[in-house]
Amino acid sequence: MNVISIGLLGLGTVGSGVVKIIENHQDKLMHQIGCPVKVKKILVKDMNKERDVQVNPGLLTVNPEEILEDSEIDVVIEVMGGIEETKDYLLRALRNKKNVVTANKDLMALHSNELLAEATKNKCDLFYEASVAGGIPILRSLVEGLASDRITKMMGIVNGTTNFILTKMNNHGAPYEEVLKEAQELGFAEANPAADVDGLDAARKMAILSTLGFSMPIDLSDVKVEGITGITEEDISYSKKLGYTMKLIGLASRSGEKVEVSVQPALLQDSHPLASVNDEYNAVYVYGEAVGETMFYGPGAGSLPTATAVVSDVVEVMKNMRLGVTGNSAISPQFKKALKEPGEITAKYFVRLHVKDEVGVFASITSIFSEHGVSFEKILQMPIKEKDLAEIVVITHQATLQGFEQILQKLQDYDMVRSVKSTYRVEGDKII
Ligand code: NAP
Ligand code: HSE
Repeated sequence: MNVISIGLLGLGTVGSGVVKIIENHQDKLMHQIGCPVKVKKILVKDMNKERDVQVNPGLLTVNPEEILEDSEIDVVIEVMGGIEETKDYLLRALRNKKNVVTANKDLMALHSNELLAEATKNKCDLFYEASVAGGIPILRSLVEGLASDRITKMMGIVNGTTNFILTKMNNHGAPYEEVLKEAQELGFAEANPAADVDGLDAARKMAILSTLGFSMPIDLSDVKVEGITGITEEDISYSKKLGYTMKLIGLASRSGEKVEVSVQPALLQDSHPLASVNDEYNAVYVYGEAVGETMFYGPGAGSLPTATAVVSDVVEVMKNMRLGVTGNSAISPQFKKALKEPGEITAKYFVRLHVKDEVGVFASITSIFSEHGVSFEKILQMPIKEKDLAEIVVITHQATLQGFEQILQKLQDYDMVRSVKSTYRVEGDKII
């Protein structure tokens, strides 16, 4: 090949980074690929917008046909975002025998099966490294680096916005609304930050991670999701007092052939490596039966970090073209989907209750837990004087989710319990 021609869909945060890396790292790319890489056309919405990168205005178009139907374009890079229209563009690109690289987790979490099947049918590559944890090469590490192992647990801090907010709340006691505004101004948050703070962005990434890590087709709807909007300053203060750090954790665990995938705020033991992942940084902790603990850390978003992952996917496409193995990379999941039932999910829990400050109440509460075979690892009790109430905080030993939900129901029904203020999963015990 004399030159590799790229059609770029989108010239925003990530698209600008892609153009910069292709220009600034041309020597390295030529060395790896064996020929120059050129951006031939760029799809945008607004031709007159000021850009973060200087491009020849003649490259810009608002007509997707100029990329999708151009037989000289070898690779379509999709960094425009969106779902249905974007899926249609990528299916057309694949049918026109173009390899595709995308950073779009919203799209891949919902439609990876259909898109990968179309890629395989047309003998094209479809790579999406940047869709999870931006600049961290986690997908290739799971699929290639850990290919010989059996992964049993993944825990991810895969949303930079919520990690930034929780870090500021943990370390500086800053109020939630103020920190969210700061995250938006710094550009980590999605245009509509609800996807970040409600946990959906992390859930999309966990659906992609668990599908690859467990070789099982996990849908977005299989991921149980809870966001960070209900976390209070009191919860953060107790979590610190008890030796934990509050984090939004994406969790994927496998026992036997069954898996559980969820996203929720969790109390992480301070000694766990994920507990020191701060600010907008991301990290994915992966436990493999043979390798043991591994952790992948880095920037989960941003123009150049994300673009690095995108352009590395382009290099992979080119290597495959040179080797004549294009379109063989997508391996269908090995296992049929098997999700754990609530009786099969076990965890430790944090519970904070307000109860009437009377004789025998604590003993009754203890017996509600013990009736379900759940004992306490840590307990705190504090009077709330002006209200004749007491605040009880416990960390349980391992309980099934089903048993824990029954306990909560009994606590809510018990007239001495004024309210169950909060509950969180507790994570970070050493895996043995
Ligand atoms: P962005 O800054 O909003 O840029 C989107 C670009 O696509 C803009 O140039 C826009 O054109 C163009 N565009 C959008 N819809 C279009 C349409 N219907 N037709 C033509 N052009 C259209 O978005 P971004 O932050 O770069 O994110 C791009 C993708 O990467 C998303 O899927 C996102 O989830 C993913 N991602 C982003 C990050 C990150 O750090 N930002 C990290 C990981 C993954 P105009 O410029 O003319 O408006
Ligand atoms: N809004 C996302 C985050 C961007 O905060 O992590 C990267 O996907």
